[in-house]
Amino acid sequence: MPKHTITFLPANVTVDVDPARYPYGSHGRPGSVLDIALTHGVSIEHACGGVGVCATCHIIVESGMENLSEPTDDELDRVDYAPNATPRSRLACLAVVRGDVTVRIPHWNRNIPAGGAP
Ligand code: FES
Repeated sequence: MPKHTITFLPANVTVDVDPARYPYGSHGRPGSVLDIALTHGVSIEHACGGVGVCATCHIIVESGMENLSEPTDDELDRVDYAPNATPRSRLACLAVVRGDVTVRIPHWNRNIPAGGAP
C-alpha cells in the first residue's frame, strides 16, 4: 500500500505514514490525523479522547482535503462548535488520512506543556 506524508503546521513537522500500520495508537479513528499526530509526538488537544464529541481537536486543512475521509454530518455539526471554524476545518480524531495532507493546528489546540514545546 502506498505511503502518505502528513505535515503539521505551524511546527512544520512532516511524517510518513503507512496505512497498513493503522492504527498507530488508541486515540481517534485508526489512521486519523489525531492517531498519527499523537504517535509522532505532535500534540493536539483531545478532551473527549478522540470519539468526536468535543471539537477540541479542531484542525484546519491547508492542502490535501481530498485525501481525507469524507466528513459525516455529525462531524460537520460538531465542527461548528469549534472556535474560529472555517470551511477547511475538520476534527483530527475523525479525519482519516488517505493521501498527502498538510494541516494547521490552531494555537489553542496545541496542548503545549508549561515551559514550551519539547
Ligand atoms: S477529540 Fe473530541 S472531537 Fe476529536
